[in-house]
Amino acid sequence: MALSTAHKAATDALAANRAPISVGAQEVHKWMQDFNWDFANNRTKYPTKYHMANDTKEQFKLTAKEYARMESVKDERQFGSLQDALARMDAGARVHPKWGETMKVISNFLEVGEYNAIAATGMLWDCATAPEQKNGYLGQCMDEIRHTHQCAYVNYYFAKYFHDPAGHTDARRVRTLGPLWKGMKRVFSDGFISGDAVECSVSLQLVGEACFTNPLIVAVTEWASMNGDEITPTVFLSIETDELRHMANGYQTVVSIANDPAAAKYLNTDLNNAFWTQQKYFTPVLGMAFEYGSKTKVEPWVKTWNRWVYEDWGGIWIGRLGKYGVASPQSLKDAKRDAYWAHHDLFLLAYAVWPTGFFRLDLPTKEDAEWFEANYPGWQDFYGVIYDEWRARGCEDPASGFIPLLWFIENGHEIYIDRTSQVPFCPTLTKGAGSLRIHEYNGMKHAFSDQWSERMWLSEPERYECQNMFEQYAGRELSEVIAEGHGVRADGKTLIAQPHVKKEGKLWTLEDIKRIGCVFKNPLA
Ligand SMILES: [Fe+2]
Ligand SMILES: [Fe+2]
Repeated sequence: MALSTAHKAATDALAANRAPISVGAQEVHKWMQDFNWDFANNRTKYPTKYHMANDTKEQFKLTAKEYARMESVKDERQFGSLQDALARMDAGARVHPKWGETMKVISNFLEVGEYNAIAATGMLWDCATAPEQKNGYLGQCMDEIRHTHQCAYVNYYFAKYFHDPAGHTDARRVRTLGPLWKGMKRVFSDGFISGDAVECSVSLQLVGEACFTNPLIVAVTEWASMNGDEITPTVFLSIETDELRHMANGYQTVVSIANDPAAAKYLNTDLNNAFWTQQKYFTPVLGMAFEYGSKTKVEPWVKTWNRWVYEDWGGIWIGRLGKYGVASPQSLKDAKRDAYWAHHDLFLLAYAVWPTGFFRLDLPTKEDAEWFEANYPGWQDFYGVIYDEWRARGCEDPASGFIPLLWFIENGHEIYIDRTSQVPFCPTLTKGAGSLRIHEYNGMKHAFSDQWSERMWLSEPERYECQNMFEQYAGRELSEVIAEGHGVRADGKTLIAQPHVKKEGKLWTLEDIKRIGCVFKNPLA
């Protein structure tokens, strides 16, 4: 009987050295090529409509031992800096209050994405047949476990050292309240783990990791350090060093299905849907977090977006996959239009529903307004005047009895929530490209803000059934909903969310909200 490669390599190694005390990494890799998971019936708990080839290679070729050695060095550097140097520098107290609030959103949401990436790579491991490809997904699965811990640690660190820990300590408790969590779960949860396994890879690895981790994980380190935060770059750059493996996995997923007829039929549609889903949330939310959640600005979001999403990803990265039949998403052009005004539109709405959040927002200062007008001409006349009016009506002060949601009601500006993406929009108050579309199905009305979300829903309406807060709480009074949804601090009455970041400013309580008498209304009812 012929010897297997592994058996032969082991026999040869022993012939050369009768008492080895270590094994070379490349030698182990050679053995691993012979080692496979070629079960008679490959597990198909998570089937895919694509056939994944069984001779796919994996670029990193890391054994578990090398992997663990490399990652433990990275962990030691990161936790060493945090616990020693940064603790001595009192880094938590140097973070600008506005940015510390932004990190409540970013670290909590990214943690959810990391957690779902664990499951996504598990599904892909289950689905693939090539041993090397499985090995690549396995490495990523371990990375994602590490990243989940790292994001949780950022919250833990801020909860200990930032002046206002509420929100870093307990963001998840308010997950049923505001619209931000639901949109985030659409991209970071459903998008990564529901449906076809290969489609999930396209969503997580080809779009999420190859496209949006650059602005999400790399740009955030620049914005953080410009705003006094040394903690975030220390952790996020350590996360980012693993992303190359994940992008390579996305590339190999495409390679493994390239010859399958299903790829010619479905792949570009799956990619277009995945891209639109991811961009619909990340384009406005990241732009808003950076520009409205910071004191010192790095560069206009639209520039970052064009460089990383449009040119690097849409052009170069997807271009490399052209030989496998992959085309740049058709929706990329519409996304480019969104990247200019979408985050400005979203901040108006986010500030209007501030009591439903788990972080503090701040109105643009005079200095911010000048920066916005200089970089987005026309900003002041459209958005700036509204903020001036809200400020004049005392929106920051609990004694004023004014929350901007009332202004929307007074002025007849209805706020809708896009069913597919769960992102709120206001058709009568927008500079963005979207427009209102309403469909009726199964006795329910569904609103959409653009043709891509509408198309996705029309072809698979059963995938998008998430109830939004206007449907969920229709007819209920705001303070009651906040109390029920755990939106208060440890004293049982002060809101976690606040409409300003002033350390000495007065904080809003449930009583202040109750006095306003604001009742939820479903615009589709
Ligand atoms: Fe990750
Ligand atoms: Fe990743």
